Amino acid sequence: MDESAYKQFLDRIKFEQEELREDLKGLPTHEFKRIGDFGCGWGFVTWSLAQEFPTSDCVGVDRFDFEKPPYLFEMGFSLENIQIWYKQKEIEKPISFIQGDIIIGENLPNGLDLIYCKRVMFNIFGDEKKNELSHAINHISQVLKPNGWFCLIEINEPYFKTSLEELLIQVNFEFMPPRCLYRPYRTPEKTYEKYPYLIYQCKKVKQE
Ligand SMILES: C[S@@+](CC[C@H](N)C(=O)[O-])C[C@H]1O[C@@H](n2cnc3c(N)ncnc32)[C@H](O)[C@@H]1O
Repeated sequence: MDESAYKQFLDRIKFEQEELREDLKGLPTHEFKRIGDFGCGWGFVTWSLAQEFPTSDCVGVDRFDFEKPPYLFEMGFSLENIQIWYKQKEIEKPISFIQGDIIIGENLPNGLDLIYCKRVMFNIFGDEKKNELSHAINHISQVLKPNGWFCLIEINEPYFKTSLEELLIQVNFEFMPPRCLYRPYRTPEKTYEKYPYLIYQCKKVKQE
């Protein structure tokens, strides 16, 4: 990667890290040894997690769908490319990436203390695909440790919010009302207008 692309990357990460700290505020972060970034896209958040938790295992999971890549970089979107790209930057602590599918429940890491999931569930919900959202939430709950945390950052849209909360309750997540705030959507090229977001911190309640 050339110098200017790397600088763009670092600039992008700065904002990501600030948002991450804000999103995890109040959680028992010292307990987070195994961390998953589900629907990691280009792995900006995975990288930020690895910076924030330098002694923890951080794994980015995405279905790496070449047909529908995340629109953050115009580069071939595949597991191989993302691995090469991160390796080139010689980060101190390697982060790993896995090709997995949250809806199908295929190839997901398990025994996680924290799953961070940003701008993914609303995409899955799409045209009111509540079934797919339900599968995704169930699989996330299954791979979290008891008392583990699921932190979600999603667009604040009333119908989606209602469906999401019903599903979180069904799988026994405990959560406070989400924080609502506006955040800009940033790409390396441009900062777009602010969108309304919901931030949930959900705890997987230990089953008796
Ligand atoms: C809008 S991007 C968000 C990327 C990243 N979390 C961020 O905030 O920059 C949504 C990502 O979710 C991934 N995704 C969608 N459905 C998925 C599924 N069923 N399993 C795994 N990843 C999925 C997409 O491939 C895409 O990379």
